Amino acid sequence: MYKSVRGTKDIFCPEIFFWQDIEIKARKILSNYGYEEIRTPLIENIELFNRSLGSASEVVNKQMFLVKRAVSDTEEKEHIVLRPEGTAPVVRAYLENNLDKKKDFVKFFYIGAMFRAERPQKGRLRQFHHLGVEAIGSASSYLDVELIMLAEELLINFGVEGYKININSLGCSQDKKKFALLIKKALEGKIKDLCLDCQKRYKTNILRILDCKNKNCQQILRGLNLGKDYLCKDCQLHFEEVKEGLDSLNIGYEVSPFLVRGLDYYTRTVFEITHSDLGSQDAIGAGGRYDNLIEELGGPPKPAAGFALGLERVFLVVKHKDFSLNPLQVFVIGLGKESQKQMLKILRSLRQNNISADADYQEKSLKAALRRADALKVKFVIILGDLELKKGILQLKDMQKGTQKEVGLEELINNPKEFLC
Ligand code: HAM
Repeated sequence: MYKSVRGTKDIFCPEIFFWQDIEIKARKILSNYGYEEIRTPLIENIELFNRSLGSASEVVNKQMFLVKRAVSDTEEKEHIVLRPEGTAPVVRAYLENNLDKKKDFVKFFYIGAMFRAERPQKGRLRQFHHLGVEAIGSASSYLDVELIMLAEELLINFGVEGYKININSLGCSQDKKKFALLIKKALEGKIKDLCLDCQKRYKTNILRILDCKNKNCQQILRGLNLGKDYLCKDCQLHFEEVKEGLDSLNIGYEVSPFLVRGLDYYTRTVFEITHSDLGSQDAIGAGGRYDNLIEELGGPPKPAAGFALGLERVFLVVKHKDFSLNPLQVFVIGLGKESQKQMLKILRSLRQNNISADADYQEKSLKAALRRADALKVKFVIILGDLELKKGILQLKDMQKGTQKEVGLEELINNPKEFLC
């Protein structure tokens, strides 16, 4: 038997109802916040991510899927990858389509699959889905507050409880350099005690040491006093405004000096939403500012910010999972060839009248077909027999009342609502 690729999953009933439910809710909330949908391709050129996420970031270094032709006798000229995240593609699309010249400020959202070649475990897949938003063209601290407010509103509406919001400020690019230097100094003499990954990060991506999950590294880090002195005046003020804004909305958060995020493009505010039910992969969403990314990708200076929720992880922490589609209203059973032909006419009329209906296509015995109707929890069953059809009638069974009556075939087709509502 063929198996799905490790770290990917099929989504069907009843979980699919969760996906449908959150998409409907998300679209409504996002449009209330002024976000427009954007759909970018699943494949992009590798350089986009090398440039934006940083060549030393784990996503670029270890987790990108390179797309190759299955059979090719020539060397691939293009280096195409499956997108590992949505921010860089949105910025690429924004610049490539000259949207920066048409609009001062844009708000985009996307819902779609992302791909990372990670070792699969609970909450960590190789194909997963982001609900992401990107707001481009504003440096306002209040936009950061609005993003966190939006993330919270989405989660509450999806039925997530017990999450925690952590925030931090990395400062502008100058501050980030100062911060890196501060960590470098603080760790001098302790490098040998760090895990091997962190010893590498010390040389290539020092900020990432701060969110290493290794217990020993964490202990060393807890002993460091990092403070917020690395932030310039403007960035300090910006961060104060973010905190005040959250306070004024009664949004609970914790300042986490060790929160740095794994992607290079972040500046100033960063945030992560975690849930203790998830174990080691505890982030259900994350985001922050990326004020330099648009310029780094060849555009004008345009501050921006956004976040993405990991929908598989959201699903894992949603408390009440009793999602269900509206059950079918009517089940039609045709006993005999002629009846089955008429069955299709009835079905068309019901559906055109917005009455959901299905039929017995397995040509089971009446008893078995009724059992199926019962399992489907339909309100009505229509039974057609070839002999009764000759008289132009059918049987209509009301499953809730347990009653049955004769109805004219043409009357039912012409006016189903009179009999079935
Ligand atoms: P990220 O933190 O890499 O950020 O991903 C966002 C969320 O996606 C994570 O918090 C997690 O819930 C989920 N996630 C990440 N990797 C996996 C995985 N392998 N399996 C399942 N879920 C996963 C970004 O990608 C940024 N683009 C977010 C952003 C938007 N920042 C600004 N704008």
